[in-house]
Amino acid sequence: MIPMVDLKTQYHNLKGDIDRAVLDALESTQFILGPNVSSFEQEAGDYLGAKHAVAVASGTDALHLAILAAGIGPGDEVITSTFTFIATAEAICYVGATPVFVDIDSKTFNINPHLIEAAITPRTKAIIPVHIFGQPADMTAIMAICDRHNLLLIEDCAQSFGATAGGRKTGTLGSAGCYSFFPSKNLGCYGDGGLITCESDDMADRIRVLRSHGSRERYHHSVIGYNSRLDDIQAAILRVKLRHIDEFNRGRRKVAQLYSELLWDLVQVPIVDGNGLHIYHQYTVLTNHREAIMAKLSQAGIASAVYYPIPLHQQSVFADAYTETILPVAEHTAKRCLSLPIYPEMPEESVRLVAATIAEALVEL
Ligand SMILES: Cc1ncc(COP(=O)(O)O)c(C=O)c1O
Repeated sequence: MIPMVDLKTQYHNLKGDIDRAVLDALESTQFILGPNVSSFEQEAGDYLGAKHAVAVASGTDALHLAILAAGIGPGDEVITSTFTFIATAEAICYVGATPVFVDIDSKTFNINPHLIEAAITPRTKAIIPVHIFGQPADMTAIMAICDRHNLLLIEDCAQSFGATAGGRKTGTLGSAGCYSFFPSKNLGCYGDGGLITCESDDMADRIRVLRSHGSRERYHHSVIGYNSRLDDIQAAILRVKLRHIDEFNRGRRKVAQLYSELLWDLVQVPIVDGNGLHIYHQYTVLTNHREAIMAKLSQAGIASAVYYPIPLHQQSVFADAYTETILPVAEHTAKRCLSLPIYPEMPEESVRLVAATIAEALVEL
């Protein structure tokens, strides 16, 4: 069996440190906003090069609270990629704003900056690029557009912890960066978790208030807030894993490099556009023979997955507003994309077996 991601091997490699950290957190009994949360915020902020880092309950909440704290609300439009996980758009809708979906670049699967300006209207408030699969979006172009049109820039870094753009960590280039620690993420905890980075003291303060029932001081509530705190046990686990994130990302890049050497003439392997450091949260190829390859991999006990089969503008929840919209690159990509197993500890033999099985599937066509 080759899984998409092997969380057990990673746990066993770090078991001593993780078990100790969890047991210490249990002994402390400071489960909500305890010492591990503030230490993790400090350590993650230092690692990312962000002035503020505020831990929250999930990546979805990170997006929601960042959008809210940025002052985006009903009547506003927010431009984002149509080729992403639904949470990016859900968070826009939670505040009563409207997501405006833009097509992607065929090589990187990231939002195509050349198409953004045509989507800007007087109601546009922000752009949310998603660094999809761990490859940074074209931030130079996107930041220039934000400057030209006076738009906020909020980065969806759920898949790009540790990736860099222009020498800076993703999530530190705009008004806010939003991260997810869902267990299968490249920095994952053992439940749900998320983080927001920002430079503005005021925004960080607003997010801290929003994540904790709208209160700065216990039982004094200045706004309607949320219960969106990272718990101390998850923070303890993340502190251990954060120390290894560069090594994890290096491991992913090594797996990806070998895949690309073995697969370049069989499928369209990921294209790195030089906009930054790709950390391969996913290794996603394009092929006209997806079903045959998936069937063969499955017979061989190898997992594979389609991220994402339906672009957001075609999801039934948004379809009414987008009946006339055709975003051809995303639609084409959704029909042909295939993500292969990748994790830092993936043995070379496993990568070779996946590639050989894909080659077999294609020979049998
Ligand atoms: C691009 C993207 N944005 C947002 C999220 C939401 O993160 P979470 O599952 O932690 O709420 C995810 C992952 O699930 C994601 O992949």
